[in-house]
Amino acid sequence: MRFKQLFRRKSLEVLLAEMAGEHRLHRVLGPVALTCLGVGAIIGAGIFAITGRVAALESGPAIMISFVVASVACLFAALCYSEFAAMAPVAGSAYTYTYATLGEFFAWIIGWDLILEYAMSCSVVAAHWTGYFNEFLYLSFGWRIPPQWTSDPFTAAEGYAGQTYVNLPAMLVMLVITWILVVGIRESALTNAILVVVKLAVVLLVIVLGFNYVNREHWTGLPVEKRHVTDLADFIQRHPDLASALPPDAVHATTEGEDLIKAHPAFAAKLSPEEKAHIKQLPNEVKKWGLLGLFGVKDWLHPLDEAVRSPFAPYGFSGIMVGAALVFFSYIGFDSISTHAEEAVNPQRDVPIGIIGSLLLCTLLYMLVSAVITGMEPYYDIETKAPIAAAFRKQAEAHGNPLLNGSAWIISVGALAGMTSVLLVTFLSQSRIFLAMARDGLLPNSIFGVVHERYRTPHRSTMITGACIIVAAGLLPIRMLEEMVSIGTLLAFVMVCLAVLILRVTRPDVRRPFRAPAIWAVAPLGALVSFAMMAFLPLDTWARLIVWLGLGLAIYFFYGMHHSRLGHELQREIQQHGMSPTDAPLK
Ligand code: ALA
Repeated sequence: MRFKQLFRRKSLEVLLAEMAGEHRLHRVLGPVALTCLGVGAIIGAGIFAITGRVAALESGPAIMISFVVASVACLFAALCYSEFAAMAPVAGSAYTYTYATLGEFFAWIIGWDLILEYAMSCSVVAAHWTGYFNEFLYLSFGWRIPPQWTSDPFTAAEGYAGQTYVNLPAMLVMLVITWILVVGIRESALTNAILVVVKLAVVLLVIVLGFNYVNREHWTGLPVEKRHVTDLADFIQRHPDLASALPPDAVHATTEGEDLIKAHPAFAAKLSPEEKAHIKQLPNEVKKWGLLGLFGVKDWLHPLDEAVRSPFAPYGFSGIMVGAALVFFSYIGFDSISTHAEEAVNPQRDVPIGIIGSLLLCTLLYMLVSAVITGMEPYYDIETKAPIAAAFRKQAEAHGNPLLNGSAWIISVGALAGMTSVLLVTFLSQSRIFLAMARDGLLPNSIFGVVHERYRTPHRSTMITGACIIVAAGLLPIRMLEEMVSIGTLLAFVMVCLAVLILRVTRPDVRRPFRAPAIWAVAPLGALVSFAMMAFLPLDTWARLIVWLGLGLAIYFFYGMHHSRLGHELQREIQQHGMSPTDAPLK
């Protein structure tokens, strides 16, 4: 019986019936509010912070192409999300869709996986919030928070060689956001709309003003040798003088920098202390190439890398793809519109408009911003914390132009507003998903399903989630968090693309107010491009994903499976009729 429960699906009719029940959320959101929600969740740390680091260290000016690759995956996935959201406009997004198509087991996996996309991305955004907060303090008062208190203990602060302790501003901003969501200011669509308008205005300012300072040479005229070193083999190849102290086959795909130094004293003797520290931090080829390194695909990608390498794409093909997997973070959030489908006035029409509209708008803006940022200064000089405001500040310093300095200040304020709205919307979406899971009995209802009497918010769930986000934002390595968010979200995309295809086959009869066009191409391609980006993420990230999913499964088998509403129904039906309804045709 238990085995059957794993693949028991929640029928669309049940979903729709639940929606009509007394506990459903109010339908108050129109197409503009939904698009605002989308843009509110999308534009944030990705474009304001991560873009700079990716341009500097991973893709160079070809980051513009990385944005296109990432947007293709998102667009395909967005079409699939839209079909689902229009068909079953209930809270819960991918979790709910999977429950209706692939059954409880996969639904739980996706629900658990979505914690990476929502809660963990709040930690990432909060951690990047710090960079702009510091830039804002500097531009306003000429003072910065000491670096020890602005980075997690595993991430070196820019320009500071000492030990860092904790990202304090990130923890404080999340504390405030948690409090806001507990007392329910969240209902204020107006607050979100204002934040969205501010950040859009700032993004437009960056594009319009920044284009005046673009030097096209920075896109296509910089020597490729200026790029940063990407991995150990790259370092050795670019330092023939040091390499001469090593035997020819000393560096393998799995060699660690530290081991190389220990094993070859003559080589170690040639290194400066800085070079030693640098080598220890560099990934080996397997780490750099992710799954592809493991399966040897890199051997034929290597020549492709070299062929693509140019001043525009100094890090080659892999740089563009790794860049895509990282800037993908900037698109995350369009699907949070589908977590609010239950609150849409006319979900069948407006949810697809909101999802696709906000995605297209953001793609255009991102490409323009990345063109500006890589055109204003050589990509290898781009600062990795608060890169956009810093680029304008540097121009201001170079030109002695107070107007530019003022705009750097405005940009830092806009970025802070932008990231704050991402935090609000994303955190809110997380509690919607937990609510859906608690309704189904997969999470304890007394924590994730209860609503505060006065504030009408899921206060317990919010406080517990908030505490976890706060700890992660302050203490965990930010790069690791980013990669976890990307891999988790991409996995959700793969599953949604496959699920929408499966439902076309198993339930051709269901009314689909929005049909994704060319589904036999769109859905498989969406899954494929998403998976390709996952493959470029480091092996460690894959290992962490597996551990994370393993933890989720343990919780499911110890708790969710025994408390599932569908599971209880199944048990009752078997007791009454002596047969499992999954043997009967799917209703
Ligand atoms: N897309 C969101 C951001 O960039 C998560 O901050």
